[in-house]
Amino acid sequence: MQSPETFPAFADEASLQLRGNGRLRHLLTLKGLQHDILLELLDAAQQFVTPAGSIAARNDSLRGRTVANLFFEPSTRTRASFDLAGKRLGADVLNLDVNTSSRKKGESILDTIYTLQAMQVDVMVIRDASAGVPAFIARHVEDHVSILNAGESDISHPTQGLLDLLTIRQRFADFAGLKVAIVGDVAHSRVARSAAYGLHTMGVTDIRLVSPAALAPGRDEMPFAERIDDLDRGLRGVNVVMALRIQRERIADLDGIPDTGEYFANYGISAARLAIAADDVIVMHPGPMNRGIEIESTLADSARSVITQQVTNGVAVRMAVLEHVLQSMAAS
Ligand code: CP
Repeated sequence: MQSPETFPAFADEASLQLRGNGRLRHLLTLKGLQHDILLELLDAAQQFVTPAGSIAARNDSLRGRTVANLFFEPSTRTRASFDLAGKRLGADVLNLDVNTSSRKKGESILDTIYTLQAMQVDVMVIRDASAGVPAFIARHVEDHVSILNAGESDISHPTQGLLDLLTIRQRFADFAGLKVAIVGDVAHSRVARSAAYGLHTMGVTDIRLVSPAALAPGRDEMPFAERIDDLDRGLRGVNVVMALRIQRERIADLDGIPDTGEYFANYGISAARLAIAADDVIVMHPGPMNRGIEIESTLADSARSVITQQVTNGVAVRMAVLEHVLQSMAAS
């Protein structure tokens, strides 16, 4: 769902998301987010992870607070996990049905935000197809409101980046020395950008962006990462492979984009292609997954896959972020 409004770019999102006390007020981007805050969020999230089949972690730290989910683009994982995260911390959670909201009648996004703010919503979780929306809203809400970016165009998906980091850290104790390949439609992927910036901050120096030329990111982005167009070269010796979906909904001109059969043959992640990766390689995918296109179906369900672990970690990470922004408000 495209927003008809446009939003001015804001140059310094990394500063905008911090309070004067150095704590996070909003979570807009992992780009420029300090190592100590990243580490603190990962440690806090880990505390919320419980074994499969056990009762999910919960507490009352958000009792009396209200979290609103505003998803102007489709979502399964992010929306459901923010919903569960808020409820497991005792918050009231409002899932606005954007298809029946007054934005459909021409109300501006700011008027929607001001309406929810007047209802004493404390945290707004926002996904939108337009670049700049989370920062734009963050600049307009009152001091007691926090904005969490739940997916911004092809720019940023910071809680996805955090859950990816947490999943990697659960398998590999140390980020230093890891080799990570992010494979597929990097050009249109907010997941790739957030993961790459987060990995860079955590000290990963071998980050490979593997894609056909038509799906490679701009040269000025993620300058610390290597661009590779050959999958075998990209996978050689890697410990982590992150497969990405082709984001067809963001591609205006599909000329030059390989068809699905050709794509799987050249860029699909399969057990056979992973023969040249490290023995301990793990396979990640943010979802939604197109089995048989960017990833072999049996590999997605294999012992190398940590895809369901990513989903589990998504709830824990969102609990940690909600607690952090509300505790930083209380401390300011
Ligand atoms: N990874 C991710 O953002 O998934 P959803 O679109 O289902 O939220």
